[in-house]
Amino acid sequence: MKKRVLSGIQPSGKLHLGNYLGAIKQHLAAQALPDWDRYYFIASYHALTTSPEREVLRELSLEVARSYLALGLDPEKSVLFLQNDVPEVTELAWVLTCLAPMGLLQRATSYKDKIARGLAPNHGLFAYPVLQAADILVYDSHVVPVGSDQKQHLEICRDLATKFNQTYGETLVVPEAQIKEEVAVVPGIDGQKMSKSYKNTIDLFASKKQLKKQVMAIVTDTKTLEEPKDPDTCNVVTLYKLFATAEETAEMEAAYRAGNYGYGHAKLALLEKLNHALEPHREKYQYYLKHEDEVIDILRRGGKTARAKATEVMARVRDRVGLV
Ligand code: ADP
Ligand code: TRP
Repeated sequence: MKKRVLSGIQPSGKLHLGNYLGAIKQHLAAQALPDWDRYYFIASYHALTTSPEREVLRELSLEVARSYLALGLDPEKSVLFLQNDVPEVTELAWVLTCLAPMGLLQRATSYKDKIARGLAPNHGLFAYPVLQAADILVYDSHVVPVGSDQKQHLEICRDLATKFNQTYGETLVVPEAQIKEEVAVVPGIDGQKMSKSYKNTIDLFASKKQLKKQVMAIVTDTKTLEEPKDPDTCNVVTLYKLFATAEETAEMEAAYRAGNYGYGHAKLALLEKLNHALEPHREKYQYYLKHEDEVIDILRRGGKTARAKATEVMARVRDRVGLV
């Protein structure tokens, strides 16, 4: 059996630098694996847990698809699809739900975090990890590259696959999480974790003008141009480091310590790096923005491939469970 790498992302906001460095970059690195099947999907059912507006869900699903394509997802090498093109996933989620101990889900920190942030506690939010497990298990996925915040969800998935196999006999592939521990949390323009919920993002496909506005809004202290500054506590330096070479970073740090180097200078240096890194992807993004039919066509083709695999796995599951 060909091995399969799978990952998903929720269409719950415009993609930002934190999403790219913390997750998407690792997802797409799997394209270099020869002889593997690569599945990437847009977790539209998951987004329903928090995003009930029709137009928003529709637009963000397409936005995530065109962003992945612009960032280098090659539809000839990888299967890109919408979660909702494979309804079998919700069927497997139900079977797994009936095996999932309440205690296991009650311990899920993402649910508790979301409630603490003020989201209404609907059942979808609570069952979120079960649907995520189904996403992975319904395609016999072997490896799942994710950001470190998804560790617990992957553990729950492995627990549910193991429980299924113990209950009904070897049926499901127990997947491995692939987590790059060294990837740091990317700070937002206010210094907290970059997140759409904190409205502190630097967006991947903002216009040049918007990008400049976001970079210029990075929070610093109020030291004057002449005063020496501390590079170790500055958000601009932290972000610059993610794109600059070691020498360039050392140069900026030295300029901070010497004084006569303002935060405005550092922000412009960061902006130049970001423009340089994003430029090759912007053109592709614009292309897919103008060719929505092509994006939808790629998603539909991907959905067909993914659904064929899911149908095969579900037939096995139904048989094992006794669903005649
Ligand atoms: P947001 O926090 O903006 O709602 P999501 O939770 O939808 O973003 O993030 C999708 C993935 O992007 C996460 O699984 C996580 O791995 C990664 N990610 C998000 N924000 C950051 C960040 N600031 N630093 C590193 N990785 C991040
Ligand atoms: N929960 C993931 C996130 O917020 C998205 C996701 C849903 C996912 N289903 C998945 C990731 C299956 C990997 C595999 O980032």
